[in-house]
Amino acid sequence: MERRKALQQMFLGTGTLMVVPAALASCSKSASAGAPLTGDLTLDLTNSKYSQLTQSGGSVIVGSTIVVNTGSNNFIALSAICTHAGCLVEYQSSQKDFYCPCHGSVFSTSGSVMRGPAGSPLAKYQTTYDATAKTVTVKGA
Ligand code: FES
Repeated sequence: MERRKALQQMFLGTGTLMVVPAALASCSKSASAGAPLTGDLTLDLTNSKYSQLTQSGGSVIVGSTIVVNTGSNNFIALSAICTHAGCLVEYQSSQKDFYCPCHGSVFSTSGSVMRGPAGSPLAKYQTTYDATAKTVTVKGA
């Protein structure tokens, strides 16, 4: 009986050791898309890859940048990399904000933190819409 108890405790201890690194890994920056935008980025809205941007509330993530059509040919672009631990944020058109699925941070369309755990804002980039060429240019930092 004593041996059985000792084996059970040993097994549970090993299981705990195996689970802890996996749990810690889920909070790592492994979902990060890389460095913030440094050069200009031009998106051709006639390209089907960016078709989401032809409608109000549509968004696309290109590299580490998220671009959103906020309506009436107005576009915003921010870093898509959450400042908490580097996951990619998503645009929520119904709430007009950005949500991080990793730990629940929420950012406004200006990039400011509306709900943590993130403590720093998302970088915001200047955008230009060319109605003739049907392009959106994002000016990197
Ligand atoms: S990575 Fe933790 S809230 Fe975004």
